Amino acid sequence: MCGIFGYVGPRQAEPILIEGLRRLEYRGYDSAGIATLSDSKLFIRKKAGRVQELARHLADDPILGSLGISHTRWATHGGATDTNAHPHLGPSSHGDIAVVHNGVIENYSALKRDLQNEGIKFLSETDTEVIAHLLARQNDPDLLAALRRIIPMLKGTYGMAAVSPRHGERIIAARLGSPLVIGVGEGEHFLASDPSALIGHTSKIVYLKDHQVCVITADDFHIYDASHSRVSFSVQNIDWKSTDTDKGEFPHYMLKEIHEQSESVANAMRGRLDHENATAVFGGLNLDPRQLRKAERIILTACGTSYHAGIVGEYLFEEFARIPVEVEYASEFRYRNPPIDQDTIVIAITQSGETADTLAALRESKRKGHRSLAICNVVGSSIAREADGGVYLHAGPEVGVASTKAFTSQVVVLAMLALFLGRMRNLSSLQGAKMIEDLQALPEIIKKTLRCNDAVRQLAEKYQQTSNMLFMGRQYMYPVALEGALKLKEISYIHAEGYPAAEMKHGPIALVDKQTPSIFLTPRGSVFDKVMSNLEEVKARGGPVIAIASEGDARAADHVASRADEVIFVPDVPEYLQPIVTVIPLQLFAYHAALLRGCDVDKPRNLAKSVTVE
Ligand code: F6R
Repeated sequence: MCGIFGYVGPRQAEPILIEGLRRLEYRGYDSAGIATLSDSKLFIRKKAGRVQELARHLADDPILGSLGISHTRWATHGGATDTNAHPHLGPSSHGDIAVVHNGVIENYSALKRDLQNEGIKFLSETDTEVIAHLLARQNDPDLLAALRRIIPMLKGTYGMAAVSPRHGERIIAARLGSPLVIGVGEGEHFLASDPSALIGHTSKIVYLKDHQVCVITADDFHIYDASHSRVSFSVQNIDWKSTDTDKGEFPHYMLKEIHEQSESVANAMRGRLDHENATAVFGGLNLDPRQLRKAERIILTACGTSYHAGIVGEYLFEEFARIPVEVEYASEFRYRNPPIDQDTIVIAITQSGETADTLAALRESKRKGHRSLAICNVVGSSIAREADGGVYLHAGPEVGVASTKAFTSQVVVLAMLALFLGRMRNLSSLQGAKMIEDLQALPEIIKKTLRCNDAVRQLAEKYQQTSNMLFMGRQYMYPVALEGALKLKEISYIHAEGYPAAEMKHGPIALVDKQTPSIFLTPRGSVFDKVMSNLEEVKARGGPVIAIASEGDARAADHVASRADEVIFVPDVPEYLQPIVTVIPLQLFAYHAALLRGCDVDKPRNLAKSVTVE
């Protein structure tokens, strides 16, 4: 949520900062701003709206300088206005100070009141402006010293950067709970809240840790810990290809990422399937076989789409590893105090690795002494670094705000974990070998599944005007129903609900009428007949029905086709892998419906890619 990009070096900062903000825009896009230093003068431009608005404004009114900081905002305090956009200014006799900030200063209103009582005037409604005024009030030409003095006053989270003409050609930055990385170039340095924004500039990055501050110049940078001592650091290489963050031949990131799923699922499995022992192998779990065998319970904790993958994981672990599993919303888990015995493993599932609630849930679980793992996409993210061990998705950057390829990769990783844990317990080598065969077939099967695109687009054309929609499924299809509804509502703004299909008659069936279509997930499987009965109940009440069914079984196909108004067929796969093939038409349906309704698919209103506030 919100993005920070900074540059110091020999080149003009403005185009570099704007390009950096474009890369970060998926993190927040209600306003953007930029501050540069030139000839000991501070220049600021900021604008409500997309980065494009700011770029237009800069074309009319350019700014010079080879050092600058910039920000793209997702509003937390105060609406999306020019004034509330960052950078915020702290006027000082030693030269104004410009500040950009991600995170939330929880005690900002008390701090603001104190500052106002001293006669300081605030221009914006943001929490960030208190940081700028606090820094300015230190009246210290040494910005680093000023920052160190104000940090203990701040309660909450921050990734922040500041520049001031009196402080010379340097950027200072600090992190607590909101990510920042330094990009190391030749005679130039960068600062970013997300390493992917540095692609094309440098592949060398240094992650800032919580409680660290840094001073960055064109030639050098230094990092200090909370006790003001200089600390050593390691420079890491990013291995993402720059094409990963281009849209390529696709009009939107979301469509590109839906089509990447064959490859991303293959990448999640690469090197992890052990044919000889009919199991899966993971390099980074950091748990010895004894600890794994002793595990009596697994808690999966996550938010949003990752939470839905967690429910699939629950079914997978229970079926194949015979371990009791609970799935918890991270935002609830972090504040609950459930009795958990020592042989419980907690696994946080997250694409970004920065979701504030998931990070807090992981920390809470570690505090209580549980082995705490992460299934995560972004290498080096906060959750990846703080977990005791884990599994990377290797899905490549997911830029579209609606999560798609991360979900299928999460499900594949969970299936491999279920295989791995199952083989330590009750699964035979034959069963293990069969699972490996099933998993390996997935990339080709996903390619075939994507052929439903045109049929799904026609469906979207037919139903795009609807105001409400229901998604129903049972067993492995229940979390897919939740995910289909989430995808549709978040990008097309059509109200949608997902339910376990049989639960419908306990209330939601009251919503069924001619104007409320239902999507039923009816692939071949153990509950096929049961779901068909639920489908009939909706039909009997006049509700239009779309079914997602398996190819290959003529009898079942006829049965579905004669009951549903429309059917989308997907390849037949074993039941436990059906979430992967059935979610694809739902992702595509949401995409096409949103497009037809004129919505901004990659940047839906009110959302941001990674939710780094509570
Ligand atoms: C929905 C979506 C969100 C995220 C959620 C968790 O399409 O993207 O619901 O799944 O914010 O994010 P991560 O997985 O980054 O922790």
